[in-house]
Amino acid sequence: MRTDTPKTVYLQDYKPYPFKVTAIDLNFDIRDEQTTVTAITKFSRKDPKASQIFLNGEDLELVSIALNGEPLEKFTQDERGITFKPPAGDEEFTLETVTVIKPAENTRLEGLYRSGDTYCTQCEAEGFRRITFFPDRPDVLTVFDVRVEADEKDCPVLLSNGNKISDGKLEGGRHFTVWHDPFPKPCYLFALVAGKLTHIHDTFTTKSGRKVDLYIYVRPGDEGQCAHAMESLKKSMKWDEDVYGLEYDLDLFNIVAVSDFNMGAMENKSLNIFNTALVLAHPDTATDLDFMRVESVVAHEYFHNWSGNRVTCRDWFQLSLKEGLTVFRDQEFSADMHSPDVQRIDDVTHLRRFQFPEDAGPLAHPVRPDNYIEINNFYTMTIYEKGAEVIRMLRTIIGPENYRKGTDLYFSRFDGQAVTCDDFINCMEEVSGQDLSQFQLWYSQAGTPEVTTTGKYDGLEKTFTLTLSQNIPDTPGQTDKKPMHIPVALGLLDPSGQEFPLDEERNTTKILHLREKTQTFVFEKIQYPPIASILRGFSAPVILKDDLRDDLKPEDHAFLMRHDPNGFNRWQAGQTYMLHILDEMLDQGEEIPEECFRAYGALLDDALRPESDKALLARMIHIPDVIHIGLQREEIDPAAIYQARDDLINGLLSAHKDKILAIYGMHNDDDGDSVTAQAVGARALKNTALHILTNKCMKEDVDLCREAYKNARNMTDRIAALQRLTLFRTGSCMDVLREFYERYRDYPLVIDKWFAVQASAAREDTAAIVRQLREHPDFSLKNPNRVRSLFAAFAMNNPVCFHAPDGQGYEILRDAVAELNTINPQIAARLLTPLKEWRRYTPDRQALMKSALKKILEIENLSPDVYEIASKSVAD
Ligand code: BES
Ligand code: ZN
Repeated sequence: MRTDTPKTVYLQDYKPYPFKVTAIDLNFDIRDEQTTVTAITKFSRKDPKASQIFLNGEDLELVSIALNGEPLEKFTQDERGITFKPPAGDEEFTLETVTVIKPAENTRLEGLYRSGDTYCTQCEAEGFRRITFFPDRPDVLTVFDVRVEADEKDCPVLLSNGNKISDGKLEGGRHFTVWHDPFPKPCYLFALVAGKLTHIHDTFTTKSGRKVDLYIYVRPGDEGQCAHAMESLKKSMKWDEDVYGLEYDLDLFNIVAVSDFNMGAMENKSLNIFNTALVLAHPDTATDLDFMRVESVVAHEYFHNWSGNRVTCRDWFQLSLKEGLTVFRDQEFSADMHSPDVQRIDDVTHLRRFQFPEDAGPLAHPVRPDNYIEINNFYTMTIYEKGAEVIRMLRTIIGPENYRKGTDLYFSRFDGQAVTCDDFINCMEEVSGQDLSQFQLWYSQAGTPEVTTTGKYDGLEKTFTLTLSQNIPDTPGQTDKKPMHIPVALGLLDPSGQEFPLDEERNTTKILHLREKTQTFVFEKIQYPPIASILRGFSAPVILKDDLRDDLKPEDHAFLMRHDPNGFNRWQAGQTYMLHILDEMLDQGEEIPEECFRAYGALLDDALRPESDKALLARMIHIPDVIHIGLQREEIDPAAIYQARDDLINGLLSAHKDKILAIYGMHNDDDGDSVTAQAVGARALKNTALHILTNKCMKEDVDLCREAYKNARNMTDRIAALQRLTLFRTGSCMDVLREFYERYRDYPLVIDKWFAVQASAAREDTAAIVRQLREHPDFSLKNPNRVRSLFAAFAMNNPVCFHAPDGQGYEILRDAVAELNTINPQIAARLLTPLKEWRRYTPDRQALMKSALKKILEIENLSPDVYEIASKSVAD
């Protein structure tokens, strides 16, 4: 158990660093047992009064330290770093340190570590202090010169940021490269890679004619799975030029894939380092979803070159400045590459599933937090996803032209600087002439606003009056919040499905600016009682409480699901409608209404039409999953929800088996491994149909899925079938599972799927299976992907088993966190996510979850990472 309380960092304590770092010269001498880092750092004074200089440095063995060439005698060192007295006067001074680190022993995967045979770095947020002594904060920018030396046989490839200046051979089979990055950067963007890697190469010519060499480095044998990432990179480079006018700024861009990585990927200047899971993609081994994800993460990291690298964050409280903006950019990129409606549906589903609960839970925090214990815990759904929604709302409010003027101003004004979220908003204010001070509350107030709507039609005056009210719930440390500026996109439909024009230009979607607690909007010349389509495209990250009782009736949602011209709202109406029916089944034991069978049948008819949007329809015919249903319940009982959902699916299946079978059959002979939007959509629809079709778990269902597995010509179809077989788990199903393992035992990313699919099966014996898999020879706590594939899949994707009333699920997670606490605290803390929401569950589950958290607080040598999440989760 911890006896001390880890320190909290506060935004209000921000002070500029009193020195400037004019340059750093780094030398890495990489050897098997250890790496020696020599850093020659040049400082100049910014604050004439500063009497001390502090450099971060953790877990470093200091070999020597010299100031201006003389050994430094007087300095103090603690577990956070060193402090010494700088020379008086304005003269530049030079510090030379030699430190030794042990990458092979680094299981935290922060700083310099080994992944397989490859040395690589991860410095964001605070990893550089594990490499050498330096002011490890994003507002200290400097020019990096880096020399890397290693054994040529073990490490033929030696990379760092910027341009390669020279290379050469040395005695004893050693060699070196030297790198210069002309762009000053904070140390969190530093990177180094050394290892035995092969690459693929391509080029991209920027709009002003710069020819850029593009490389993707991977483990030998994986080069056949890189083409998709390379295509994605070129598309991203082109898109950023077209949409934001932003060009790449060096002649070289490298991506390196490593298999041990805490996150998805990292935007180090000109040397992006990726988790293999987000680079490698081949139809044999990656699903359509994996393909999409690779494309969007490659784009995301590339876009950071401007939003994050050229213009960076002043401090980590401003993290959303780069992450929220870059997520928004990658979402829009993906929307442009594929279907905007489907992209929006998937992004909103993600937001609701992960960010809304965070915003309603014990760790709720604003998009710009004001305190943290461990910064790694603040790479959250709020910073990322809500942060992206905030940028999207800004664009909606000031309009796309002003938004582009605003980003132009932002990138030119702050190029080479470390700035704040306010700086960004001020640019938007300046170019649009709009007062955004109320809007800025989105950065400081936590909690998801609830918006209530009431509509009234006046048949004599032909007016429709819509009243909107907002309520911002209390969150830890924040009560009595001010009303926010919420853009609500609205359309009005007449009974034939036609839209009413809502302004002089006859636009049919209007943005209502809700700024007061309650506000009324009147629409004239509305000839019939309209059906309101509210919050089109999810124009603001709010919870809409039109909740079907007052103005919008279930049949209105069924109507909108058929007729709303806004694709997102068509989907939303269908979901709202089905969630309503599930609620009635759960609370009142209601039967499935006739209207539901009819509405669902109409959707299936749509899906059967050859020209329909298959990707969208796959999402529309999908019955909201257990987690999703739970999100809107007062008290979550996953087992009861599972049962109701099962009844609904079986009811719909009995009524429409022929149609569902036809949908499944319709796409069964597609061309197999093509990844065009058409093919991807068709597979999504087909596999959704397969899952519904085999919901009753009959013998014939097993046969159908085995058939599907056997005929699969790509990983998407194979996994879809395997998910069902793993759920049935009969003898013949187990044969398939074994066949899958044997076939892919040399493909770690596919073996991850093999673990995940078993951990996600809603079966009585899954907890026991997870415990067995923990002991599987292929399991390792040191590999984050493998940890996620077993424990995160179980705890986050398998609500019924994780929340089993006997508490087994929570115990499994607690044991995993205890073990991981010392191996990799960052991953351990992230695993805790599902326990944060204990207050949302039935009382028996609440007690068990809370006691699991308390036991976690008793772990010896508890890391600050785990401590922060567990202690804040149980706090009253
Ligand atoms: N800068 C982050 C990576 C990062 C996060 C490093 C936390 C250190 C700590 C990177 O740009 C990022 O956001 N990656 C995401 C994927 C992205 C598409 C949202 C990730 O790794 O999950
Ligand atoms: Zn990012």
